[in-house]
Amino acid sequence: MCLYPHGFIGCGMAGISEQKRCEIDGTVFNPFSPDFVREPHATWLKLVSEYPIAWHRELNMWVVSSHELCGDLLKSHDFSPNYRLWEHALPEKLEAEKLDFDRMTDHSLFMVTQKEHLRLRKLTMPAFSKPVMSQIDATIRDLIVERFDEIGSPEAFDVYTEIASKLPVRSIARMIGVSAEHEAMFQKFANCVVLAARINLTPEQRETAMREGQEGIDYFREQIALRRALAHPGEDFLGALIAAEEDNDSLSDWDIIALISSLITAGSDTAIDLHTYLINGLLSHPDQYSLLKQQPELMENAIVELLRHGSMGKFPFFRFAVDDTEFGGQQIRKGQSVLVNLSAAWHDPAKWENPQTLDITRDLNGNLVFGAGPHFCIGTYLVRAQARIMLEEFMRRFPDAELSGQDGDLEYDYAHHNARRITRLRVKTNLEPVRKVA
Ligand code: HEM
Repeated sequence: MCLYPHGFIGCGMAGISEQKRCEIDGTVFNPFSPDFVREPHATWLKLVSEYPIAWHRELNMWVVSSHELCGDLLKSHDFSPNYRLWEHALPEKLEAEKLDFDRMTDHSLFMVTQKEHLRLRKLTMPAFSKPVMSQIDATIRDLIVERFDEIGSPEAFDVYTEIASKLPVRSIARMIGVSAEHEAMFQKFANCVVLAARINLTPEQRETAMREGQEGIDYFREQIALRRALAHPGEDFLGALIAAEEDNDSLSDWDIIALISSLITAGSDTAIDLHTYLINGLLSHPDQYSLLKQQPELMENAIVELLRHGSMGKFPFFRFAVDDTEFGGQQIRKGQSVLVNLSAAWHDPAKWENPQTLDITRDLNGNLVFGAGPHFCIGTYLVRAQARIMLEEFMRRFPDAELSGQDGDLEYDYAHHNARRITRLRVKTNLEPVRKVA
């Protein structure tokens, strides 16, 4: 049986030599089952308590689920996110066959060697510093306020259509400094980057997505060249990347374009779920929603707790074994893929008391919501700023909002490749009675 809806190179190729390993199949964990997507807690509990690490026979990958093992895995140098290390990866193209898109991907944070990754993270640090990042607050606020103005004062609206699907890519565009007239081009480039990164694509589909991304690559090459020609490249995000220097080393054009593509890959899909899960989490827990209204200083903690509690990921993060290695008492072969099942880890009762309770005052020390180790999320400032401003605006405009029906007429995209993607979440604003009284 293959659990991937669109086919997957590794399916049905599970090794037969490993005798003693702990194994599971789709009866324990089937990420595409509608039952699991709707109600995943029993599965996560089974995984963290009975199968903290197990070989999934049908998905052909290791699944690591306990909080402790996920933390160890993220920090380990025995595993890499570079999918070219995967035993079933397609052979790398010859230099002459490469598209610009391949050259960009070669430099991305997920593909480079550990040494190169460290170099890139060091050189990109100034661009993520407080002075540069705080500049984005104002532009993100404008974007969000404008969106809420467009939503207006309806009786009800859909959070996915009106907020979640509209803000993430535009927020990244604002952070990078893409001008309004180029936003449509950037959106197209982002679509290509996200599509080309999907694991369940045929080689032909991937090649098409990569070719269609050329316009975006050309745009950024031109922008970088223009900035490099100036006496000073500027104080904004792009300027900081161009000016960054360490030990006589600086970022190349490909390093910068690849960073932008990494931000899109890691930051546009996740941020779609960010908005729906934040609002769903709050409105389905009215006690926590009113606590946050009374104590807005809890906002930062609430955002992380809502992400932990909502656990929107289904297949989010992978590692590939750099060599044969022992991990969590299991023998992992070089090139095997490992799912870092953070959604399960965020509900591990060994780490979290009453993990299914949403408690915005919870002590979140040691959480893995933004990862751990060398690949710790680089976008946390943007996530927090975007989430905080969006929630403040939502609460200000719709303080008495409730979910429509019992559960916001919730709908999921059950076939989504890596998330428990909510595609409908209707909210009643409860503004109408107030207006009538007035
Ligand atoms: C709900 C929102 C988000 C969550 C929960 C989240 C979580 C994470 C986690 C767990 C990792 C570690 C992945 C690993 O170790 O393989 C990560 C990495 C990363 N995130 Fe985020 N993220 C979010 C949004 C964003 C946004 C908005 C951006 C960009 C603007 C972003 C950019 C990145 C990048 C580039 C990496 C890779 C860093 C590296 O490899 O060095 N993320 N994120």
